[in-house]
Amino acid sequence: MSDSDRLVAAARAARENASAPYSNFKVGAALLTRDGKIFTGCNVENATYALTVCAERVALLKALSEGAREFTEIAVVADTAAPTPPCGPCRQLLWEYCGDITVTLANLTSVSGQHRMRNLLPLPFDNRLLK
Ligand code: THU
Repeated sequence: MSDSDRLVAAARAARENASAPYSNFKVGAALLTRDGKIFTGCNVENATYALTVCAERVALLKALSEGAREFTEIAVVADTAAPTPPCGPCRQLLWEYCGDITVTLANLTSVSGQHRMRNLLPLPFDNRLLK
């Protein structure tokens, strides 16, 4: 099984834990470290709606809080025919913490495509501009 296949399988499993009673739109994500570890996430909604956290950000924050710092790929899974790419705020955080990683988009049965972060967030603001 390739790294991408493992990641997509992990994201599909993580999606099962999504707490999405308001949107009913469950998402799973799985983030791969350079040394082969996988950190998963799912979306977690709340009654104010506004505090919802996307699956990608949950996976990233879990990884960072466990000390992981180098990443190569993230898989995002939803139960839709069209791919579910990361939202704008997630793109910003993925770019800042993961750089130009591969973003693999899939649903429950197939992979719809692979993208690079540099193409998903052109002309980014990041720490290079703070110096
Ligand atoms: N969502 C994610 O978790 N990741 C995405 O890439 C797109 C959107 C979640 C947020 C919310 O809980 C639900 O999907 C509908 O927007």
